[in-house]
Amino acid sequence: MNLARPRPMRNADALLGAPDDPEEATLTTRKTRFAALAGLFALLGTACGREELPQNTLDPQGPVARQLDDLVDPVFVIAGIIFVLVNFLVLLVVVKYRRRSEDDSPKQVHGNAKLELGWTIAPAVILAVVGILTLGVIFDINERPAAAEALNVTVTGHQFWWEYEYENGITTANELHIPTGRKVSLDLESDDVVHAYWPPKLAGLLDVVPGRTNHMVIEADKPGVYDGQCAEFCGMSHANMYLKVVAHTPEDFDDWVQANTADPREVSALTGEAAEGASLFRTKGCASCHTVKGYSAGEFGPDLTHLQQREWFAGAMFEMTDQNLRKWLRDPPGEKPGATMPNLELTEDEITKLIAYLDTLQ
Ligand code: CUA
Repeated sequence: MNLARPRPMRNADALLGAPDDPEEATLTTRKTRFAALAGLFALLGTACGREELPQNTLDPQGPVARQLDDLVDPVFVIAGIIFVLVNFLVLLVVVKYRRRSEDDSPKQVHGNAKLELGWTIAPAVILAVVGILTLGVIFDINERPAAAEALNVTVTGHQFWWEYEYENGITTANELHIPTGRKVSLDLESDDVVHAYWPPKLAGLLDVVPGRTNHMVIEADKPGVYDGQCAEFCGMSHANMYLKVVAHTPEDFDDWVQANTADPREVSALTGEAAEGASLFRTKGCASCHTVKGYSAGEFGPDLTHLQQREWFAGAMFEMTDQNLRKWLRDPPGEKPGATMPNLELTEDEITKLIAYLDTLQ
């Protein structure tokens, strides 16, 4: 193709003030294409910064996730070789056997036992190898650790937040606290619809199905916060159903357990706005959905007994700050579409008092 061939000026060129000279116009087109290509590569480049991606499956941070990652590598290599080989053969056939003239037609053949056996047996062997590798890992990661050596937690999916119940009676929401270097055995249950638990740096993805208990093991090497989210469409705020796994050193984890099993402060000892907030907590109906040990026994929403031990709330959408609590209490379904917590039409004064009370839930 002669790129320098003169061509009629297009409307878009006229609008963009493209040069009238065809040679210059071609140069402009080339520059635009080059810029677009450079932009594309820059974009791809940004996708390679591994450390900054909080949900990178290819950055395992524990033995379970590492086992899965170790499976990705050989399967990717096998798939890569097949991809290159198939595309090379397609190109080879297209070029080598192209139609060379109007009356060129290929030699007609029928059947080739060697070829047919070859392209049946080779893929079967390749798939068998991949299958054996995969099955080995599946059985391995599904093996339930002995109850004594693992920390056992029941995880319940709700529209749209996660509930965690520990063996020692701690009940918390959205953020799962675990010790490093110890297997954590999760029983996954759902209260309403199908969700999926997915902490990509620590394990794979597993559906959370009503009426069933699925099982997952996670483990973290190092202390840190590992992001995840619900990975099965579960309603309006599916995309707002985040989760965090917070891994502590065993000593720090013991401190966390201490803080979360301590007796809550007596409501009768509260004064001022906090005391008024505590009574609003009952009169406005919060108490009928939320448990605060020793004060209320609601079961519909998250247990708030040790609310201030958490760093996030509302499906880990928000950091636990007074400003965010205020925003949330003004209009929960407005912040998180489909949230079951209703808008209670609270006044700013009532919100201030409720937050004063929530702040005492250490
Ligand atoms: Cu729960 Cu999506």
